[in-house]
Amino acid sequence: MDRHEVDWEPLREAAVRMTERAYAPYSGYPVGVAGLVDDGRVVAGCNVENAGYGVTLCAECGMVSDLVAGGGGRLRAVWCVDGRGATIMPCGRCRQLLSEHGGPECLLQTPEGVLTMREVLPQAFGPQDLYRT
Ligand code: THU
Repeated sequence: MDRHEVDWEPLREAAVRMTERAYAPYSGYPVGVAGLVDDGRVVAGCNVENAGYGVTLCAECGMVSDLVAGGGGRLRAVWCVDGRGATIMPCGRCRQLLSEHGGPECLLQTPEGVLTMREVLPQAFGPQDLYRT
C-alpha cells in the first residue's frame, strides 16, 4: 500500500483518543496507537501500566490484542502518539509486534515521516526464521 493511499487523519484521531484512556499513573506518559487493517477496520490501544513496573503493557500490545480479538488481519498502517499528540516511535519490543502482524511493508508514521517496518526494524526476526519440520 502506498503512503498516499492511506487515510491517515482518522488514525491520528483514534490514537489521540486512546491517550485519554491510557492507564499511566507511574510514568505520567500516556501513549495511544491506531492501526489500519487490510479489511478496512481501525484497531487501537493505549498503554496500561502496573505497580510491578515491568508488567506494563505498551499501547501497541493493546492494539495487537484488539486486532486479533476482532478477527485478525494484517496491519497496513500505524500511528503512535504521546499525550501531547506528538508522533512517537514504538519501542523495540513493539516494533517486533508490529512486524509480526504487519510485515515489512506495513507503514509507520514516525517523527521523520512515513517509513516502512522494514526501515525501522531491518532484518527482522520473523516466522521465516523458525525451523519447520
Ligand atoms: N510505551 C508504549 O506504550 N509504547 C511504546 O512504544 C513506548 C513506551 C509506554 C510504556 C510506559 O507505560 C510509558 O510509555 C513510558 O515508557
